[in-house]
Amino acid sequence: MSDVTVVGLGAMGTTIAQLFINQGLRVTLWNRSRDKAEILIKQGANIATTITEALEASPVTIMCVFDYAAATEILQQVNPAATVKHSTLIQMTTGNPEDARKSLAWASAHEMNYLDAAIQAAPSQMGQENTPILLSGDEKVFRATHSLLKILAGNIIYLGGKIDAAATVDAATLSYVYGAMTGFTHGARMVEVAGLDVAQFGKIVKEISPSFGEFFQHEGNVIKSGDFTISESPMRISVIATERILQSSIDAKINTEIPAFIADLFKRADAAGLGDKEAAALIEVIRN
Ligand SMILES: NC(=O)c1ccc[n+]([C@@H]2O[C@H](COP(=O)([O-])OP(=O)(O)OC[C@H]3O[C@@H](n4cnc5c(N)ncnc54)[C@H](OP(=O)(O)O)[C@@H]3O)[C@@H](O)[C@H]2O)c1
Repeated sequence: MSDVTVVGLGAMGTTIAQLFINQGLRVTLWNRSRDKAEILIKQGANIATTITEALEASPVTIMCVFDYAAATEILQQVNPAATVKHSTLIQMTTGNPEDARKSLAWASAHEMNYLDAAIQAAPSQMGQENTPILLSGDEKVFRATHSLLKILAGNIIYLGGKIDAAATVDAATLSYVYGAMTGFTHGARMVEVAGLDVAQFGKIVKEISPSFGEFFQHEGNVIKSGDFTISESPMRISVIATERILQSSIDAKINTEIPAFIADLFKRADAAGLGDKEAAALIEVIRN
């Protein structure tokens, strides 16, 4: 019997297995391509020949493969007579909320406990005090596996019993990241067309990012409270600023798709009478 099984030995799964081995845990591995396990086997890990054997080898299995299509394909190979009752599957493969619900259904059908996780770090950032992993599922199962999870990430953010919470918040976080990415890329174009230093622009963005993090935390509280009285940043400032970015882009004769989309959202907020509210009142436009 092992302490933990790791299914999937890509960049992330290998890191996960390595972190457990480093802590002296008995680890069983399974990967489609066995060769990726060799370096870990040399350090004492066991290799399972089938996915059924892998799940049966430990009370807890962590799965981290490319996507849910791969995860489903693997789990379909589990022998229906597998002795996995009351063991725990923690799915660390990135997926959407529906994937999480289907995975829970699969685990329940096999009388396994199930937690759904979203890793919000690169492999080289795993195992640190501040490594974030979002997690949802049964609280008792979470508490029982907490010490194991702590080896992978010092900052386990437990989001409650709703199984799709981790996938939902992960997608919401990525919405923020890609919104920032598109805005950043447009800004970089503004800078380069003006003959300025894009690398320096990146450095400036890095330096202002922590204070914008504080700002978004505040705006999250504002949305939750439902009180859009101006407390930090009036909507009107954003209406004018986004119109100015659009006009500057038109004047510079560069692509205007991104600023036009953003300026339109704020213009609609203004037209809806939200100009004298806190900026987070933009959510009223999104809600409608
Ligand atoms: N890497 C990151 O920076 C990062 C960060 C956060 C979250 N994640 C998430 O972690 C998960 C794994 O990422 P990764 O970077 O480890 O990916 P990766 O290096 O591309 O590894 C993919 C893994 O999935 C397996 N796989 C792919 N298709 C399969 C199939 N049809 N059947 C069986 N196994 C299959 C591969 O097996 P083979 O070895 O046989 O090809 C390998 O073990 C992903 O969901 C990713 O979104 C990754």
